[in-house]
Amino acid sequence: MDVRVFDGKAAASKAAFNVIKDAMGNGIQTLGLATGSSPVDLYNDMTSSDLDFSKMTSVNLDEYVGLDTKNDQSYHYFMNEHLFSKKPFKQSFVPDGQAADIEQAAKDYDQIIEEHPIDIQLLGIGRNGHIGFNEPGTPFDEGTHKVTLTQSTIDANARFFEHEEDVPRYAISMGIGSIMKSKQIILLAFGEDKADAIKATVEGPVTEDVPASVLQNHDNVIVFVDEAAASKLS
Ligand code: F6R
Repeated sequence: MDVRVFDGKAAASKAAFNVIKDAMGNGIQTLGLATGSSPVDLYNDMTSSDLDFSKMTSVNLDEYVGLDTKNDQSYHYFMNEHLFSKKPFKQSFVPDGQAADIEQAAKDYDQIIEEHPIDIQLLGIGRNGHIGFNEPGTPFDEGTHKVTLTQSTIDANARFFEHEEDVPRYAISMGIGSIMKSKQIILLAFGEDKADAIKATVEGPVTEDVPASVLQNHDNVIVFVDEAAASKLS
């Protein structure tokens, strides 16, 4: 894996931005996108640039089940807020968490990925090594699927909702199999609480216990980290 260590999140994000910019110069068509705090600086770089995404397609990793897209906790909302409202793409796909049949929506999403092969997939990483909503133990070959959120995730999300019963119990996520089909993967990780996950991902055994360790099996991954996230690498 190509691990690049930077003095801070801003510098790492700028370097990741430059990889995307160069790839756009080479005619890539589809970007895979993530939510969360890790890509926010990169999205700011994208929105403040003169790059034109209006001929490109974007495909997001995941969404909660049952949240209205206007709910400020939904990933649709996040993407509009941070990127799409400022830099529209020709078309942007985010998994449909409001579908009546989530299993069917997951199959449809894999069809979308099939029709729009992802040139570069952006990923963040959880402290336990999750990517997308693929928690430890998720089979490596799975496509897009419905995920039952763990009680600890539900508890952690509760602070964002007025009523405990409004906290989503399920999500829909690209699977590890879908992620691995991307031609290139950019993983972003910042801060000390990502250091163990980065060490296990880069230097540990490839195991379903650490979902991101599967990236060792992909031949075009760049890991952009700050010094804190890199601090446990040997
Ligand atoms: C987001 C996603 C998650 C996050 C991960 C890291 O779409 O799929 O896997 O990338 O939880 O989150 P942050 O960046 O907030 O630390």
